[in-house]
Amino acid sequence: MTLACMDSGVGGLAVLKRLIQQLPDTPVVFLGDTAWMPYGEKALEVVRHRVLDVHQWLETNYTLAAFVLACNTATVAAFDELDALQRPYPMLEPVSTTAHWVNQHVDSAKKLGIMATPGTVTGGRYLRYLTPDRRIEQVACTGLASVVEAGHCDGPDLDSLLIPYVNVLKDWGAEVIILGCTHYSLIRERVQALVGPDVELVDSAEVLAEVAIPILTQLNLGTGSQELWVTGQAAQFSQAIQSLPLHEIQAKPIRTITIETVLPAHTPSIC
Ligand code: DGL
Repeated sequence: MTLACMDSGVGGLAVLKRLIQQLPDTPVVFLGDTAWMPYGEKALEVVRHRVLDVHQWLETNYTLAAFVLACNTATVAAFDELDALQRPYPMLEPVSTTAHWVNQHVDSAKKLGIMATPGTVTGGRYLRYLTPDRRIEQVACTGLASVVEAGHCDGPDLDSLLIPYVNVLKDWGAEVIILGCTHYSLIRERVQALVGPDVELVDSAEVLAEVAIPILTQLNLGTGSQELWVTGQAAQFSQAIQSLPLHEIQAKPIRTITIETVLPAHTPSIC
């Protein structure tokens, strides 16, 4: 029995690193769908087809004990369909998990910003789960996940894109900001430096891992190997890992797999 975790790319490792820190010998398969990244700039219908195919590949090749859909955008696009499959194992996702955490821990009087991909913003799933009495401003951060995927967690390539997005929320007066994309967990320090110490960041990768750990611990998954797959280039993925705050993952071998997805005719391509 294996714990499966998937994301479009390195962002999912921000969840995985926390899971394997707490459950170091647990059998795990991670799949980064890098050939199809960025999910957040594709039509949600495209992402839905793709995520269902990736989940099916995982189910075909492993006996799943739990499925962690780390990616916010994938959740927005496909979690309801996955949940409807009524599998006998738990399925966990970051969006409702983070929203519930905010509902419980963050004063509803505080102005709440959300940084997320265009797909996550369009899908509106955060708004579905956050209490409606809040003042919320969402910023669709086009291009940001791709810069992180390329291994940038600081420097001018990151800042030229990040600063204008952060400024939208600063100017609006955000007091709390949800990092609603797992990739942004890897640039959390830079975001914090830009917004200043008085703004609280809620990291969806961290919240998901915190909620998942007790659930996974209860499953008593035993010991086994940890396998990392990507659908794009393994060397590129490995190089990005070296540059990002992911030292827990650095020594792990990465393999490439091709997973086919045939989209129905006339599927819109962009978000
Ligand atoms: N990491 C994904 C998320 O949490 C999105 C990155 C992408 O656009 O592929 O939303």
